[in-house]
Formats: sequence, structure tokens, C-alpha cells
Amino acid sequence: MKHLLKLLDLSRDDITLILDTADALKSEQKSGKKHDFPAGKTLAMIFAKSSTRTRVSFETGIFQLGGQGIFLSNADSQLGRGEPLQDTARVLSRYCDCIMIRTYEQKEVENLAKFATIPVINALTDFEHPCQVLADLQTIREHKGKLAGLKIAYIGDGNNMANSIIAGGLICGMDVSAACPEDYRPARETLDFAATVTDAKFELTADPKVAAKDADVIFTDVWASMGQESEAEKRKIAFRGYCVDDSIMALAKPDCMVQHCLPAHRGEEITEKVFEEHADEIFDEAENRLHAQKAIMYLLMKK
Ligand code: CP
Ligand code: NVA
Repeated sequence: MKHLLKLLDLSRDDITLILDTADALKSEQKSGKKHDFPAGKTLAMIFAKSSTRTRVSFETGIFQLGGQGIFLSNADSQLGRGEPLQDTARVLSRYCDCIMIRTYEQKEVENLAKFATIPVINALTDFEHPCQVLADLQTIREHKGKLAGLKIAYIGDGNNMANSIIAGGLICGMDVSAACPEDYRPARETLDFAATVTDAKFELTADPKVAAKDADVIFTDVWASMGQESEAEKRKIAFRGYCVDDSIMALAKPDCMVQHCLPAHRGEEITEKVFEEHADEIFDEAENRLHAQKAIMYLLMKK
């Protein structure tokens, strides 16, 4: 693994290695054991969109590994004044050991990786959110003891989270059922990949009740992602009936987990009651961003 650009690029062995490394780093950190990682590595952190979890978990993660994160917002860097990503990639490659980027189009991240001579990590694009779903898989494995054979239901927008959950779940041998309104389906590339999978089942439906049936894990996400704020009202109408509430949970297995990448909009994609009943799982998921990303940085930077 040279970069982490999207889960679609990874094999089951790649994901297992990341999750095993994340578990090991988590246990070292909890027991106060020093990580075996070369000191003084730097991570450039480019943010073209807002963040709480991603910024803090990456910056804390590289610090705990004995290195330093360098935050670059569009507004404060020359990126905001139009310096091309291919030049930024070559400059940062002369100073730093890894680049993390959160931006809009997936092709920007792919372009950055093409010109960088150091590893590049996708920290969310409109297409995928691979770091989040690696943390989610770590959380599910911790709670359920396994991944393959479980059923994930994703209920909501066919967005970056949907694409990454479908890819990550299927690669790990989980059955995935996605319920999305017809005009808000996951990306064609993701659906094409899902159609090639033979050792796990994939289902795309417009009915959240169909997706939720016998699920081991229910996922949801906001109806209007970053960059779609002007569509928020229209989307509230399109997503009526897609709220994860007691009636949806009643269709799932009795020990069904709930995962939400956060931030959550209570009363829209999830009720306050379901959110609070599953808050421990959701905040374990948030915590695992730290451990999963440390694993990604460890594997990409440790030479
Ligand atoms: N889940 C997630 O990526 O959160 P932030 O937008 O706060 O980074
Ligand atoms: N789909 C959301 C995820 C936020 C972490 C967004 O892109 O805004």
C-alpha cells in the first residue's frame, strides 16, 4: 500500500492488516507503551472542508507516534489563492513524510498522489471517506468479534459514506443492503464494484425497511453533506421516511449496532432516542478514528 486514496483500491488482506495494526496501537496507547515508530515524521494536513474529528484525530495521532501535524486550510495557504495541487504536492514532498487531504473531488486526491513522492491519505472527498470506514470496521469487529458474515444496512444518502461502507463491507465479506432514494444512489463506480463481488451479498433498495431487516449494524449519515448546504431543504423532503427510528430498529437483529460518522442531525437521519441508546457504539467509532488513522500512518510511513 503506497497511498490510501479509496477503499475500492484495497484487498481484504490490506484492510485486515490496517485493523490488526489499529488494535495493536490502541492497546499500546491504553497501556502507556511507547509505539515502535521513527521519531520526527511530519504530516501535512490539507483541509478544503470543515472538520472536528478528522483534524483532531490525525493531529493527535501523529503526535502520539512521535511526529508533528501541520494544518493547512485553503484560506491560510496558497491553495486558496489558486496554487495548483500538483505544485503543492511536489513542495510538500520536499518537507514532509505524508500528506492528508480533505477536499471535494476524488480526482484532486488522485492528482495529488500522482505528483507527490510521499504517501497521500484521503481524509474525505465527495466520493469516499476511507479513514472513517476503517474506524467503523474496527469498531464493528471489536463489538461483534468478526466482520465476514454480518449484515450492514446503510440508510440514507448515496454519498461518500455510502460508497465507502459498500466497498469496505463487501471487501470484508459482509452483506450490505443500501436504502437510498432513487435520485440519491451511490456512485456508479461503487455499484459496478458491488456487482463483481461473489462472496458477499449486495442489495440496493429504496425501502429502508427492506435494508434494515435482520441487520447486525445500521449506518446512517447526514442528508446534506459538506458542499450541499444549499440543497438542504430539498433533501429534507426527498429523504422523508429515511430516519433511523424505533420502527427501523425493530426490524433489525435485537443486538443490532448503530454507527454514525458524525456530526449527526437528530430528528433528521436519526432520532434522539436511537442515537442516545447507541451512543457508546457511536463514540467508540469516533474514538477509533484515532487508532485506525495511526495504523494507516504507521503502515505508510514506517520504513
Ligand atoms: N466524521 C468526520 O469525518 O468528522 P469531521 O467532519 O468532524 O472530521
Ligand atoms: N457525508 C458527510 C460526512 C461528514 C463526515 C459529508 O461529506 O459532509
